[in-house]
Amino acid sequence: MAFTSVEDYILRPATFDDASELKPLRTASVTHFCAGHYSTSAISAILASARDGRYDDLISKGTYFVLTTPDSPARIVASAGWTPHRTVYSDKPGESATIAVHEPFDPSTDAAWIRGMYVHPDYARRGLAARLVKECETDARRAGFVRVHLSATTNAVQLYESCGYVKMKEGDGVEMVGLPNGEMMASVMMKKNIEER
Ligand SMILES: CC(C)(COP(=O)(O)OP(=O)(O)OC[C@H]1O[C@@H](n2cnc3c(N)ncnc32)[C@H](O)[C@@H]1OP(=O)(O)O)[C@@H](O)C(=O)NCCC(=O)NCCS
Repeated sequence: MAFTSVEDYILRPATFDDASELKPLRTASVTHFCAGHYSTSAISAILASARDGRYDDLISKGTYFVLTTPDSPARIVASAGWTPHRTVYSDKPGESATIAVHEPFDPSTDAAWIRGMYVHPDYARRGLAARLVKECETDARRAGFVRVHLSATTNAVQLYESCGYVKMKEGDGVEMVGLPNGEMMASVMMKKNIEER
């Protein structure tokens, strides 16, 4: 079936039953799109740090979304979510993916964070990521947030710019962050005001 519009894809909150689909999506997406921007070892470390369970807190709160094709509702082709609170993850193998610090955010002063954006390479440049960004913003606004922040991999900066995000730092906006394997990876902190005018 040929899909002509991004609206043809079905958007729904992710469930824990989606775990088996989300993992291969993440692997295919990062492996394909981050190549040329990050080293092979950095890509492996990025994937390792986004291991199973990383998005459980979002799924449990209904703030992680998936897009499926209309002809195959079980086929997840893109995913992303937002978190209304800061979460700190353990990078240590064997330790629970989410380890604490859930600091409650105040939506009137703090930002919602977009996280876990993955599009399958076969479905690139159809507007799926932009649709997910929009959904996250709408949902966060509904929860009272007026600002969205995110930490973009360098390959994703143009996507977020096209959605109205700006770099927090001057110039290329790049900051180096540590990966679990000890390597440093370039990341770009971005922000957007989603207040309705
Ligand atoms: C980044 C990513 C999510 C983009 O997904 P996508 O569905 O292809 O993006 P969209 O089709 O919604 O793109 C919307 C707009 O963003 C911009 N854009 C997206 N990808 C781009 C790219 N590779 N180069 C230039 N512009 C790009 C374009 O303006 C595009 O509009 P256009 O296609 O009409 O020109 C996808 O490449 C991906 O999954 N990458 C690996 C995982 C990742 O990097 N996640 C983000 C971590 S923060």
